[in-house]
Amino acid sequence: MAILVTGGAGFIGSNFILEWLKHSDEPVINLDVLTYAGNLENLTSLAGDARHIFVKGNIGDLDLVSDLLAGHQPRALLNFAAESHVDRSIHGPEDFVQANIVGTFRLLEAARDYRGGQAQDAASNFCFLHVSTDEVYGSLAEGAPAFTESSRYEPNSPYSASKAASDHLVRAYHHTYGLPVLTTNCSNNYGPCQFPEKLIPLCIHNALAGKPLPVYGDGLQIRDWLYVKDHCSAIRCVLEKGKPGDMYNIGGWNEKTNLEVVRTLCLILDQCKPRSDGKSYQEQIVFVQDRPGHDRRYAIDAGKIERQLGWKPAETFETGIRKTVQWYLDNQTWVKNVTSGAYRNWVDRQYGG
Ligand code: NAD
Ligand code: TYD
Repeated sequence: MAILVTGGAGFIGSNFILEWLKHSDEPVINLDVLTYAGNLENLTSLAGDARHIFVKGNIGDLDLVSDLLAGHQPRALLNFAAESHVDRSIHGPEDFVQANIVGTFRLLEAARDYRGGQAQDAASNFCFLHVSTDEVYGSLAEGAPAFTESSRYEPNSPYSASKAASDHLVRAYHHTYGLPVLTTNCSNNYGPCQFPEKLIPLCIHNALAGKPLPVYGDGLQIRDWLYVKDHCSAIRCVLEKGKPGDMYNIGGWNEKTNLEVVRTLCLILDQCKPRSDGKSYQEQIVFVQDRPGHDRRYAIDAGKIERQLGWKPAETFETGIRKTVQWYLDNQTWVKNVTSGAYRNWVDRQYGG
């Protein structure tokens, strides 16, 4: 038995593979095209480990995916691969349409074909697990109840629209072709190996470099934060116990404003790595122009996965964020390696130098 993971060199995919192989000896075939966000350094601890088979390639390459399925006969395909950054989707939506919509479509086609060619038993056990986001539900008003699995899809950014489209394709392949699928919609993740374009690693990196901590608009937008290893345990749980055709919301019950998040990071850094002038890192907070179409609030009701599958997060925001800051302090070489020329071009473009 084996599983096929796509996007396993990215932030969540690499954490998932590391956690998977801590809990199981079942091999993982990791298909990743290695965009700017894909980094094999996340997986260096698996060097020489025969349970991890890396394949560089695109999920949109139908022949390659079909060959991998036929050659390895995995019992599940877990799709993490995507373009994932909202700000980049505003500058260049085309990549998001290609990777997230066309890519998922090709994976579904390959999976449909693979399942059709399998023996009865194996075919009924196969599962396509699609990793998605709470952003497909759009923006919540203050005080409105958190998103449930029956909330309406109202995506507002090219990123969330492309993820919503991919979720719909996954759903359609279940209803039309009987492909056993599971979809997870998770809130904002944070933790080790997150590329420093996203709020939390960007602010840790900028704080230590003495640079501004850019807060969009008034900083009172709300996100629901989940430690990445809790997301990984939820996906394992859904894979083993989820009902084919169902969606599962995953979240940490941790609604915070962006300003609260950035201030918390500053306070932890003030304790762990005080500034040489004795001032707080909060001095570096700068309010910058807001993101166009910025969703005001996301909140996930994770009651279904808790009640039906017995999953709960292990970390609170307070424990998870401390672990995260410590990881970045301990892994400055990783940060240095990913903040290369291409990274600096992105920062110049997004924040005007
Ligand atoms: P990421 O950007 O860190 O990693 C994405 C990975 O996918 C990279 O390794 C990249 O090389 C690979 N990839 C991109 N296009 C590909 C293609 N066409 N073929 C093969 N590989 C490709 O993203 P992430 O934060 O790890 O997110 C993983 C998944 O989880 C995404 O589907 C995302 O929508 C979803 N998600 C993310 C969050 C979050 O907070 N980061 C929350 C909920 C859901
Ligand atoms: P991000 O990490 O990009 O995740 P998402 O947009 O998928 O929620 O951003 C999290 C929140 O932080 C979001 O409301 C935008 C905000 N943000 C800033 O205020 N400044 C920044 O430099 C970035 C990258 C994000």
